[in-house]
Amino acid sequence: MSGTVWVTGASSGLGLHTAMALQDAGWKVIAGARSFREEGPADGMIRLTLDVTDEESVSAFCEKAKTYGRPDALVQCAGMLVLGSCEETATEEFRRVMDTNFLGMVRMNRHVLPMMREQGGGKIVMFSSINGLMGVPFQNAYTASKHAIEGYAECLLMEGKPFGIQVMLVEPGDHRSGSDAYRPHAKAMTDASPYAWEYKCATEKIHHDETNGSDPDVLGRKIARTLKKKKIPFRKRIASADQHLAVYVHRFLPAKVNAAILRSYYIRKKDRA
Ligand SMILES: NC(=O)c1ccc[n+]([C@@H]2O[C@H](COP(=O)([O-])OP(=O)(O)OC[C@H]3O[C@@H](n4cnc5c(N)ncnc54)[C@H](OP(=O)(O)O)[C@@H]3O)[C@@H](O)[C@H]2O)c1
Repeated sequence: MSGTVWVTGASSGLGLHTAMALQDAGWKVIAGARSFREEGPADGMIRLTLDVTDEESVSAFCEKAKTYGRPDALVQCAGMLVLGSCEETATEEFRRVMDTNFLGMVRMNRHVLPMMREQGGGKIVMFSSINGLMGVPFQNAYTASKHAIEGYAECLLMEGKPFGIQVMLVEPGDHRSGSDAYRPHAKAMTDASPYAWEYKCATEKIHHDETNGSDPDVLGRKIARTLKKKKIPFRKRIASADQHLAVYVHRFLPAKVNAAILRSYYIRKKDRA
């Protein structure tokens, strides 16, 4: 089954690959991102301006998108992260991450849920992350936003059920797709930071893992295949075998043991000053 799908954050990375895979799978795709200007369907995809942090922009996007087709599915990929220590990441930087990653989804859902209710159902897909299940040093704002999505999605799953609204969390591991433009460093993370060495180790590791991450094309196609099903799973983890293992182990090991394992993975002990 396909139909009309709205995709947020579809201008780059996993959102772009997902939108393209959905289109290839026969969906009518209405894509949103800040960098889009209203574009006709030259390649079949409708692209509309959307800033998920701005109520008016979300409202304008939904009104316009509706004229092309009400959403049988909404796929929310818009996201960003700020790298930094808990101590030095400013409240405003936390706010920006939460506003984009979490509240952006809340805003979109508040517009789309009444439409889906009226039409007797729909599918809401929200991009979480492995970070929605476990923390990583210096990705605290991002991790908090993805944990918020996970908790919120559990509530939505229960609330949407009587109206035929299905919910799916996508939990990608590292993929070679993200742009550095969406991964700024917190302003305070200079060489003078008391966390400078550990921060350097962790951010190098994060960069390495993303650069050598999984293929975003494969992820897009997996989502397109899953979304065609009548019943979709609540969680769709798309990650390498070691990341699957890390999530599994995280569930059973004591928190401090997990933290020690992850810390030693991200921060090279022998190099410490
Ligand atoms: N890459 C990975 O390894 C990975 C792993 C786990 C989870 N994820 C999740 O997957 C999703 C996509 O990440 P990515 O790394 O592939 O993408 P990305 O290349 O970093 O792109 C982010 C997308 O979000 C859009 N965006 C950012 N702020 C926005 C806003 N305020 N309003 C509307 N759109 C906005 C950007 O478009 P504009 O700038 O044009 O608005 C862009 O299309 C995110 O939710 C991310 O957390 C990614």
